[in-house]
Amino acid sequence: MSDGDYVVEAEALSKRFGKRWAVRELDLAIARGAVCGLLGPNGAGKSTTLRMLLGLVRPTHGAVRLFGASLRDARLHVLKRVGCLIEAPAFYPHLSGRKNLELLGRISGGVDAARVQACLERVGLGDRGEDRTAGYSTGMKQRLGLAAAILHDPEFVLLDEPLNGLDPPAVLLVRRLIRSLAEEEGKTVLVSSHMLHEVEVTCDHVVLLRGGRKVVDGKVAELIKPDHARLELRVNDGEAALGWLRAQAGVGEVEEEERGPDGSASLVVSLAGAESAQLNRGLIEAGVEVSSLAPRRRSLEDLFAELTAEPAAVGAEEEGA
Ligand SMILES: Nc1ncnc2c1ncn2[C@@H]1O[C@H](COP(=O)(O)OP(=O)(O)OP(=O)(O)O)[C@@H](O)[C@H]1O
Ligand SMILES: [Mg+2]
Repeated sequence: MSDGDYVVEAEALSKRFGKRWAVRELDLAIARGAVCGLLGPNGAGKSTTLRMLLGLVRPTHGAVRLFGASLRDARLHVLKRVGCLIEAPAFYPHLSGRKNLELLGRISGGVDAARVQACLERVGLGDRGEDRTAGYSTGMKQRLGLAAAILHDPEFVLLDEPLNGLDPPAVLLVRRLIRSLAEEEGKTVLVSSHMLHEVEVTCDHVVLLRGGRKVVDGKVAELIKPDHARLELRVNDGEAALGWLRAQAGVGEVEEEERGPDGSASLVVSLAGAESAQLNRGLIEAGVEVSSLAPRRRSLEDLFAELTAEPAAVGAEEEGA
């Protein structure tokens, strides 16, 4: 079996449930060592996609290759190299977290006690391993699921909404865990989420699904790179700043994003020939204090808002749509 540069390759992957297309003509290529975010609103087709990549759902058409091998022909062989967390993980409630992991470890051919403990610690359950999972909170179960996904040291980790039910410290812990899997251990991670900010800070690559179709596929750094034609300004006097800016040649549109009770404001200025230093100087001379001025940073949220300006049909596409 030849291992390609891509851990996942999918071509025209499609799934229809009855008359509805959950996923339609999806091409995917995830490079080795990347953290890829699969983003999309509820019903966009994220879970269906992940299930097809694991062979848990049979595609209506299209094909999946993992590590360069066809999933159809070599499923058991390639899945040994994959770890996953798909929806709410199921554990034996009467057994401890540690015992549950030990049992799972046996299935994958033996994992020693030190590895079990290390995985518990990595998900912040180092001191709760002896407790029965029946007594775990939702977030603890979710984290135990994550420990189970990485237990057998898989090369490719697939996580469906791993942040569900987690509190802010746990979100941070999981974010670091995902980064360290890729950066320190060279693993490839595919993580689904509807939380734009999380994908922006955790992933190198993002694929955005909407109504089962791919609408964006690219490197996060390129998608959100700063827009030098637009400036973000924070000023102490919004009214005066707006008046001055709108009177300048070389300044295009000026939008007020927020106005504080003290009259201070955040503005976004489109440059049409003017330079930022020149505007800074001019505002100060006009008696306006400028506390910050920087190129507009586009967030995934902005991008998403632009793409979803017209509402998608709820759920997925009907047949023939
Ligand atoms: N087993 C199934 N039977 C029928 N329809 C299904 C099934 N699984 C998914 N679907 C449909 O496929 C579409 C995509 O669902 P999917 O669960 O993949 O979305 P998702 O992006 O994971 O959403 P969420 O953010 O809510 O988890 C939805 O319209 C859903 O109703
Ligand atoms: Mg889902």
